[in-house]
Amino acid sequence: MVDHIIQSDGLIKEFPMGGLFKARSKDPFAKRRVLDGITFDLPKGLSLALLGPNGSGKTTLLKTLSTIYSPDGGDAQICGYDIVDEMKEVRKLISFVSPAMDFQKKLTLKQTLDFFVKVTNGDMALAKDFIEELQLDHLWNTKIETFSEGQKAITRLCVGLQKNPAILFADEPTSGIDFRRKQIVLDFLEKQGKERTLVLVDHSPDVVDQLCDKILLIALGGTVQGMVDVTKLQNEFNYMYDIMVIPKDRMTEKIAEKIWHRYEMIGGMCRFFAGSRAEATDIHDKIIEWGGFIDFKTSGISIEDITLMWLAKHEKELEVKLEEERKKVKQVEQEKLEKITKRKRRRK
Ligand SMILES: Nc1ncnc2c1ncn2[C@@H]1O[C@H](COP(=O)(O)OP(=O)(O)OP(=O)(O)O)[C@@H](O)[C@H]1O
Ligand SMILES: [Mg+2]
Repeated sequence: MVDHIIQSDGLIKEFPMGGLFKARSKDPFAKRRVLDGITFDLPKGLSLALLGPNGSGKTTLLKTLSTIYSPDGGDAQICGYDIVDEMKEVRKLISFVSPAMDFQKKLTLKQTLDFFVKVTNGDMALAKDFIEELQLDHLWNTKIETFSEGQKAITRLCVGLQKNPAILFADEPTSGIDFRRKQIVLDFLEKQGKERTLVLVDHSPDVVDQLCDKILLIALGGTVQGMVDVTKLQNEFNYMYDIMVIPKDRMTEKIAEKIWHRYEMIGGMCRFFAGSRAEATDIHDKIIEWGGFIDFKTSGISIEDITLMWLAKHEKELEVKLEEERKKVKQVEQEKLEKITKRKRRRK
């Protein structure tokens, strides 16, 4: 029995060098490694968010797991099927939704979805439900060329959903969708999430909060920095706002502590963390009462911020876990190599 819906063991992806990299390199066939040994398991029934800085390889990882790119090393299984050797089986089970997905402009929404339902043997009712939930039925016979970016994003999700996939891989699925409709999309996907696994790349904390159980943090260079439970994060760092204060003179810890106990000093500035609107208001009042500031600014804390704080706090235990994973991957590679060598010897 497969108890993991995704298993990735040391996944590697390389691209031919281009532009400046190529110009600087002496080797015309030189490659640049974008995913450098991605190892993680996703248990069945859980959904995952990929987080990381621009260029860290999130889209590349989604595309590799979705069999759009073939890996240059390592292994991955989707529902127990190998993404290379059993690509056909994997493709039956998944959908990949990306902002790069374009449509025939002259086709209507209905014609577009009819086409995808036909080629993927999908279920039009699933797409229809989604369109109705979003109150976009009036677009049914409208040509895609007149669609706004948000309407195209919704069409892409329809294309992904009509296939009724076990895993929906979605790259920034809610970008371009207006605030009200975004909430409807999230509620719909949340309901859907009970039947299928979502693997998302999304920078908005509300999306990750509502839809994902785990976060895989990818570092620049395409390595795994850590895997974190979203509920653990919420329990451990119950912050909603941060209030950054630029003081007239240096702010001492004594002053900061008087204002609020959860704070961080950054150079001469101070950042307070509030768990609720009431706490943020209380901190505002105390800063104004103190009066020694040039400026202060409140912003919502992003899930990326909280993840980084969690990682900083748990750096040591994560390093031990990662080291164990690396050893496991090395051992598997070694065993494979030994098998191949034995086979070659036997042939001789
Ligand atoms: N087809 C390609 N050919 C060559 N290089 C590529 C290709 N696709 C991506 N890259 C490079 O791989 C690196 C990772 O790209 P990727 O798009 O996966 O990052 P990302 O984490 O999704 O970034 P973002 O947050 O900006 O979407 C980048 O440096 C990018 O330039
Ligand atoms: Mg990307």
